[in-house]
Amino acid sequence: MSIEVRQTSPIEGQKPGTSGLRKKTRVFMEPNYLENFIQATFDAIGGAAGKSFVVGGDGRYFNKDAIQIILKMAAANGAAHVTVGQGGILSTPAASHLIRLGKADGGFILSASHNPGGIDEDFGVKYNGQNGGPAPEGLTAKIFDATLNIKELKIEQSADLDLEVLGQQSLGAMQVNVVDPVHSYQELMETLFDFNAIREMFVGGFSMRFDAMHAVTGPYAHAILEDALGAAKGTVVNGVPLEDFGKGHPDPNPIWAKDLMDLMMSDTAPDIGAASDGDGDRNMIVGKDAYVTPSDSLAILAANAHLAPAYAKGLAGIARSMPTSGASDRVAEKLGIGSYETPTGWKFFGNLLDAGKVTLCGEESAGTGSDHVREKDGLWAVLLWLNILAVRKQSVKEIVTDHWQTFGRDYYSRYDFEAVASDKADALMSALRGKLADLAGQSVAGLTVKSADDFSYNDPVDGSVSSNQGVRVAFETGARAVFRLSGTGTEGATLRLYLEQYSGSDGAIDLDPQDALKDVRNAAFALSDMQAMIGRVEPDVIT
Ligand code: G6P
Ligand code: ZN
Repeated sequence: MSIEVRQTSPIEGQKPGTSGLRKKTRVFMEPNYLENFIQATFDAIGGAAGKSFVVGGDGRYFNKDAIQIILKMAAANGAAHVTVGQGGILSTPAASHLIRLGKADGGFILSASHNPGGIDEDFGVKYNGQNGGPAPEGLTAKIFDATLNIKELKIEQSADLDLEVLGQQSLGAMQVNVVDPVHSYQELMETLFDFNAIREMFVGGFSMRFDAMHAVTGPYAHAILEDALGAAKGTVVNGVPLEDFGKGHPDPNPIWAKDLMDLMMSDTAPDIGAASDGDGDRNMIVGKDAYVTPSDSLAILAANAHLAPAYAKGLAGIARSMPTSGASDRVAEKLGIGSYETPTGWKFFGNLLDAGKVTLCGEESAGTGSDHVREKDGLWAVLLWLNILAVRKQSVKEIVTDHWQTFGRDYYSRYDFEAVASDKADALMSALRGKLADLAGQSVAGLTVKSADDFSYNDPVDGSVSSNQGVRVAFETGARAVFRLSGTGTEGATLRLYLEQYSGSDGAIDLDPQDALKDVRNAAFALSDMQAMIGRVEPDVIT
């Protein structure tokens, strides 16, 4: 076996976004595209020599080829050890756990999360550090810098490894350990939740549907929900991971998990419906006739977490991303614990979790998680819901309604305007930013602005500052509109408009969200001059 030292040159556009480097699959397949990024990552972390890594992905098209390349590059760069999921499969939270469990130096997670997969769809690579969490901004900046200065890369000249066979193999001087993707993750879940109580609930006739969307959580959900917890066979649907996710869009929300939504709104609905995304870090929870918004789910989990063994001692604090509704802040206030508002991107929760400032974190984009790993965790959220249901012995709808009656309701909706010309989206955002200074006190479409700013985050742990994280406008009525550009798209710009309206526990808590948000929506359209700036006010997706 020999090491090839390959001359290369920088490739444009390798700047990691909200969640790693995401591009069209064919872009990743271009000569040296993936190789350059991996070498740049090794260079940015001070080399791979003697280090250990975890590698796995969500099974999408190009996953296996990418893993072979990463293994050969790790070996050529002197890495000592790599743990890989069997067949190249690891959910994002399982990868995070393996990094922590094995005290690895870091890991590569191959996924474009909820974006479709296939040769004409999306692919992505994300580097996670020693704590199991996505590289913080300081490191992603270094990686980007390394992509701009790259001159050569190293890759072992060897045959592909057999990733279907469990156990140790060697690649040059490097050890490769192929592990069952589910085993350690399931053990972790068993330490967090009362599996007996959940099992009893299923024995008692509790019913569920879990839609794995032909993505990575299929094997995890089969093993945990059906085999360990005794949910009826057939509870898990679309449970075989496919390279193209069955041509679906593995994003667990009412639009893309429509079959599940339809079932849950029908007479034959089971007690709970849940779904997860491409790489298993997102979740959707829906009761009979009761869709739970991700922002509400975070708040409800926080208010009830003490019912599960892992959180019986209470929570240290709660963090949410800025566009997530204020529902969890109200819970933190009642519990007398800290609440934190971070920019979009799970990486921003890492420091707060490492410092023990927060136990639960969540985002409007269907991510919830805790200090058990450093990623959001779809199945974990489902299990925490099941544990709460097993203890409270109420329906999802009763628990949600009770929450609103106690804390009031944060009506919430996100409007996505996809594939907007980047220059137009940028112009809208800069025009908005230009107006912020004197907005407070002004009336917009009948609503008075209370405060307006461009969100800037001062990390309370490492002191780093992240600016320009989205425009937020709060109104005197308890409404809020947030505008930001997505950092996970692969084509043009996606403009996100997040709308929120709080109604106190003594106010109306059972309106249709779109009706409750009408005024703030009109104000947001007027404020941003949306029709004139991007030529549309009809979103592609409403969640
Ligand atoms: C990924 C990240 C999340 C983020 C979401 C949406 O799932 O892990 O932290 O909330 O993408 O990001 P975007 O920049 O597209 O709004
Ligand atoms: Zn994901």
